[in-house]
Amino acid sequence: MLVYLNGAFVDHVDAKISVDDRGFIFGDGVYEVTRSRDGVLLEVDRHVRRLERSLAGLDISFSPTDLPAVSLRLLRENNLARGEATVYWQVTRGAAAPRAHQFPPAGTPVTVYASAGSFTSLHEKRVTGVGTILLPDQRWARCDLKTVNLLPNVLAKQKAVAAGVHEALLMRDGVIMEGAATNFFGVIDGMVRTHPKTNNILPGITREVVLELAAELGIAVREEPMLVDDIPRLTESFLTGTTNDVMPVVAIDGRPIGDGRPGPIAGRLYSALMNRWRVGD
Ligand code: PDD
Repeated sequence: MLVYLNGAFVDHVDAKISVDDRGFIFGDGVYEVTRSRDGVLLEVDRHVRRLERSLAGLDISFSPTDLPAVSLRLLRENNLARGEATVYWQVTRGAAAPRAHQFPPAGTPVTVYASAGSFTSLHEKRVTGVGTILLPDQRWARCDLKTVNLLPNVLAKQKAVAAGVHEALLMRDGVIMEGAATNFFGVIDGMVRTHPKTNNILPGITREVVLELAAELGIAVREEPMLVDDIPRLTESFLTGTTNDVMPVVAIDGRPIGDGRPGPIAGRLYSALMNRWRVGD
């Protein structure tokens, strides 16, 4: 497997970063996960813009505009230009010693890494819908930045997996924010609801596209916080994310949502998304 590291395309086993890298030492970096289909990067401009925003939020100077071309080469050279794949981008503040919290001297080169991997869509889960558990949101106050500091997300997802469900829903002050690696949507009184874009959620690319598709389809949406107390009123629910597309949620903490089956609005939005991402015909 060929990966990209600091300007060079190298075999995965030869890609080495310094033990002084601030991504390793402090989690001082940002990332993106993008999808490709038949060699086409999906929503790539939005991913570049979000990475630029995350970089600016951490005051890391790097322009990611070459990453789409780098990614296409990774897809081609790794025989991933057919079918589905994911592409990962990570930029850290670079390597500096001795260890010190404050930023390293100006001119310290950032570390830039990109890789591609095959991806299998979660179709079977989409047919049955998935279960979720509610957990306290233990993240920091800038969840809108896509940083590699994912420990609370990692721990929450592990609890979900240990509980035999697909995703953890993170709640803060009685409000459902989002999933550990997805955005959360619910339908109440025929109205789709999702948390507004604030510093407490990641502005998901799939979330944004799904909101646009909902508007095109005439599906009413309110960007409004959803309370844990609203859960009994949900008639359907779903997650969005780069690796989840639109994923119906059929249970929260073991209690069924609606009739316990994937709902019609999730189905319509998923079809619209697949239609938008149809490539090559
Ligand atoms: N996660 N919320 C969080 C906390 C996320 O980590 C993600 C994505 C999303 C969905 O965003 P998008 O639609 O842009 O993928 C929401 C990626 C896939 C990951 O960390 O693997």
